[in-house]
Amino acid sequence: MGLFLVLIVFLPIAHYLIYVHTANGGLTFSNSLRIPELLTFKDKGGQKVFELKAQYGYSEFLKVGKTETMGYNGNFLGPTIRVDKGDEVVINVANQLDEMTTVHWHGMHVPPDMDGTPHQMIPAGGTWQARFPILNEASTMWYHPHPHGKTAQQVYRGLAGLFIIDDENSKSLELPSQYGIDDIPLVIQERLFDKDGSQRYELNRGAYYGDTILVNGTHNPHVTVPARNVRFRLLNGSNARAYHFGFNDDRPFYQIATDGGLLESPHLTKRLRLSPGERAEIVVNLSDGKETLLKSFPEDEVILLAEAVFADGIGNGHFEILKIIPEPTNAEPTDLPHTLNKIERWRPEDAVQTRRMVLGGSIREGRPPPGPGPRIPINGKLMDMGRVDEVVRLGDIEIWEIVNRGGQAHPFHIHDVQFLILDRDGTPTDPSESGWKDTVLVETNETVRFITQFNTYANPDIPYMYHCHILEHEDGGMMGQFLVIDPEAE
Ligand code: C2O
Ligand code: CU
Ligand code: CU
Repeated sequence: MGLFLVLIVFLPIAHYLIYVHTANGGLTFSNSLRIPELLTFKDKGGQKVFELKAQYGYSEFLKVGKTETMGYNGNFLGPTIRVDKGDEVVINVANQLDEMTTVHWHGMHVPPDMDGTPHQMIPAGGTWQARFPILNEASTMWYHPHPHGKTAQQVYRGLAGLFIIDDENSKSLELPSQYGIDDIPLVIQERLFDKDGSQRYELNRGAYYGDTILVNGTHNPHVTVPARNVRFRLLNGSNARAYHFGFNDDRPFYQIATDGGLLESPHLTKRLRLSPGERAEIVVNLSDGKETLLKSFPEDEVILLAEAVFADGIGNGHFEILKIIPEPTNAEPTDLPHTLNKIERWRPEDAVQTRRMVLGGSIREGRPPPGPGPRIPINGKLMDMGRVDEVVRLGDIEIWEIVNRGGQAHPFHIHDVQFLILDRDGTPTDPSESGWKDTVLVETNETVRFITQFNTYANPDIPYMYHCHILEHEDGGMMGQFLVIDPEAE
């Protein structure tokens, strides 16, 4: 009888909190969405030279008062860097903060000494020059700091920006591609604010979960777009939460790209999951001229009610994100191309080995690193900058098997390469993840296998990283290092 009563009271409350209640309700969408400016460059002998400056600033997100923030070349976030495949790029970074930082080019295939990891620290007041050719294909990448133990707080303060790559294929396709007009970048982050409008950093549920969404640093945003096909480039730039994007009218949309490139063909869907660090590009048909709302929906119906209500896991919550207002246009409606890309897949039998990464479990090695956050090991080890965890041979094709033994989902990210997911618990990849990836969400008790090849760059001294992209987990030590070595050169 007692249990029955509890259920009668509890279930409707749980249902309300999970599926009905909007965690950030009451929005009016009165602010016009900020579009990060495109960073201009100087052409020096065929190289594109960009300047980035990490600095402090003030931002007034909530119109009730200012808060101290960080940004690149401005108060919050950074400009969008846009280049072509094949470009030679130089990026001069000035650190005007009074703490050290680094700049990492997330998703990009760059030499280990240009990767912007904790091994390329820029001291307070110092400078750093990154130079590399653009080898990746057309994609939406991003840049952010990576200082050991301080990544979460610097990203939270505002250090992040988009890095868009175009190539001959992407330029030849009939896709919406006018930046800020029908090709809209969306950096989605969540924050906690105090009543006076100041940003507050605090760990809750072992990481930084917020209750207020910012899109490109705009709170309560709307965007006006032409009433036809519109492309959105989504980056989950949050520290910890996964989103399940969709529209409030449940209109279907096409996913056209994953982290590292265009899909082979558009994938029609109503929901899209992105965990921290992941990107996707979507095309939404707005030719009906009706307003719609980009939202994040609760994970799915088969969720543990207790966990959802009391623990609020990585992917829960019901958030309103962006109001989209289509305006009449004279432009001819265009259809999406049926073929977007050609992806050459490695055969699993060509992999020289399978490397196993066990997330969670007990700690056997490594001292807790400087950052806050729970101490969650990979293969029993916490990050140690002086230890190399894996050594890969240049040119090798490998399968990585990521096994989650922890009590929560972890987005696993690897530097240097883009990979192709083979399967999740033996089930072949879903179309939404069938393209190039550098970050993959591994659910509790799940095993994800991906295949990749370590090309171009080898360095016997400077490692790349792999880690959980929940930034507090990364700072807490959920990270490892791998070298790529050239056996021929040794
Ligand atoms: Cu987005 Cu190692 O990072
Ligand atoms: Cu990265
Ligand atoms: Cu994690």
